[in-house]
Amino acid sequence: MLLGVTGGIAAYKAAELVRLLRGAGASVRVVMTAGAQEFITPLTLQALSGNPVHTELLDSTAEAAMGHIELARWADVLLIAPATADCLARLVQGRADDLLGAVSLACEAPKAIAPAMNRAMWDNPATQANLDTLQARGLHVFGPDSGEQACGEIGPGRMEAPAVLVERLSGLFRNGRLAGRRVVVTAGPTREAIDPVRFISNHSSGRMGFAVARAAREAGAEVILVSGPVALETPPGVRRIDVISAADMHAAVLEQVPGSDIFIAVAAVADYRPATVAGQKLHKRETAMTLELQRNPDILADVAALPDPPFTVGFAAETELVLQGAKNKRVAKRVDMIAANLVGAGHGFDVDENALHVFWENGECELPRTGKTRLAAQLVSLVADQLDSNNTHDKVISINAKDSA
Ligand code: C5P
Repeated sequence: MLLGVTGGIAAYKAAELVRLLRGAGASVRVVMTAGAQEFITPLTLQALSGNPVHTELLDSTAEAAMGHIELARWADVLLIAPATADCLARLVQGRADDLLGAVSLACEAPKAIAPAMNRAMWDNPATQANLDTLQARGLHVFGPDSGEQACGEIGPGRMEAPAVLVERLSGLFRNGRLAGRRVVVTAGPTREAIDPVRFISNHSSGRMGFAVARAAREAGAEVILVSGPVALETPPGVRRIDVISAADMHAAVLEQVPGSDIFIAVAAVADYRPATVAGQKLHKRETAMTLELQRNPDILADVAALPDPPFTVGFAAETELVLQGAKNKRVAKRVDMIAANLVGAGHGFDVDENALHVFWENGECELPRTGKTRLAAQLVSLVADQLDSNNTHDKVISINAKDSA
């Protein structure tokens, strides 16, 4: 989780907050404003979080290590604690002239603020109007607490206690639409060995699958991400299993699926593998060479064919006739939902944006081109809709069964 600390006297409580968050199992990165550093040093929060503290927007060394966009993407939740009156006003305006402002703008994960300020500043209509605007945009507001203030006054404006903030944060995940569900996601390409140094693979970057895993986690699910070789960081709170070949991925998925509620196959699995893998590096020949290929198991179809399958979601990446191809694939593989996307130059693979057309038994939905993070959240919410309606359906059946008994 990403913690933003702004310049109020309550900034000293950020130390305790980081300690409690780590104790609760969160990996924590901290962004401090210039004002915050007047109250508490970055070194303190660095030592407690175990990560370098981020303070500058225009610092090439810090940007090279983890830029503001990467930091925003990394976060599964952004909490600003304490959030001063000025911080609220800046969030309302969407200011991006310091690191915390820029990260807040770029971050698509859930956001929360823990306001802390003098009672009169809190009561001021300007602050209250800012608060209304932020809440209307979906920001969660934790506190403030009421009581004796550092300025000697008594009233609302004290930052909520760190232990309460940790509890409220974990509540954000518990109350998600997939809370209590277990989700298995596949992502990335697979590599099919030809010899010890060569393989067959594809252009999948894994970004869509990782975004789906993160979105499912943000919706409160326990997430297991089975990933082919990719250069991506594991989304926070997600358990990752690395695999290389389609056969490895097949084995890992079938081991994880029992007890799972949802399986989302985003991986671009190689359909074929070399029939034999040479033990030594193959040498070039005078003439053409032929590789004999063998079919790989279809992971998605095999999961869908299990006696008690989870809710299955597949992807249909096509370079043409996308929609019809996807509809046919859904029926052929007997999956509950399929997301069709166009791939090829500038589409789908190895780009940050994508568009999907999603089909299920009795419906469809077009998700227009947008960032993969947002798109993944929309897809996860469609899955949650279907699970909810399946549950209602089950209930209707069981009520009818009782009636006829
Ligand atoms: O048939 P096609 O490969 O186009 O199907 C794509 C969907 O099936 C994707 O969801 C992909 O992850 C999944 N798949 C799989 N195992 C394979 C091939 C595809 O799980 N061997």
